[in-house]
Amino acid sequence: MSGPERRAQYLQAIGIDLWLPRAAVLGAAAPLEAPSGAPQVPEPAPAVQVPAPPDRGAEARDWEQLRAQVLTCTRCALHESRTQAVFGVGNPRAEWMVIGEAPGAEEDRRGEPFVGRAGQLLDAMLRAIGLSRATNVFIANILKCRPPGNRDPRPEEAAACLSYLHRQIAFVRPRVLLAVGRIAAQNLLATDAPLGRLRGRVHHFGERNVPLVVTYHPAYLLRSPADKRKAWEDLQFARSVFAQTLNAEPNDGHRP
Ligand code: URA
Repeated sequence: MSGPERRAQYLQAIGIDLWLPRAAVLGAAAPLEAPSGAPQVPEPAPAVQVPAPPDRGAEARDWEQLRAQVLTCTRCALHESRTQAVFGVGNPRAEWMVIGEAPGAEEDRRGEPFVGRAGQLLDAMLRAIGLSRATNVFIANILKCRPPGNRDPRPEEAAACLSYLHRQIAFVRPRVLLAVGRIAAQNLLATDAPLGRLRGRVHHFGERNVPLVVTYHPAYLLRSPADKRKAWEDLQFARSVFAQTLNAEPNDGHRP
């Protein structure tokens, strides 16, 4: 599907609060195949230096240890009011990470991020660029525990919790971070700039300078559907940033 066709389909789809049909997205995102009869590209010569395979058992233990620390955390007062901490969901080897703000009531109950109405919209947004929590993205929040009444995270809560997210990002080693909403963007970038100033450009996170793109929070988009068009631009932008990382480093040796 061409870019304009995809955009037209998207614009049509958001009218009914749905981003894109899954089949169309997967078709659009599918890698290009050489037409039959096209000259075959020769197999690349094997690399001389073959790095030792990562110790997957030890990695899995590290990840589970981190999960256990989050689930039993008492670093801030939110542990007293939570039903459970919400570690995150998705593929811990994903090339994309999506970062939100904090669990809401439904997430606190179910132990999974973005499972309420905003989560359904987030899933649709991600599907529009070929991503799904079942396969190729990891989703986490700045705060692992629900602030009562869904109030904004307090600075001391974010300060207590952020190192968990930093460790998750270091483990997953995503090619791209997508920060959804002001709270996620400001905490990841240690800035108080408004969301409008943070959208539309590439930021970089941490020692590995992971490219970070900012967009609207899906809960905001539910209240302000007119801004879904701008969110679509952000997603297209994030996808182009991701593609650039593939050109720069097609295989980082980290993923199976
Ligand atoms: N909003 C968020 O930012 N995160 C969630 O997990 C749910 C709603």
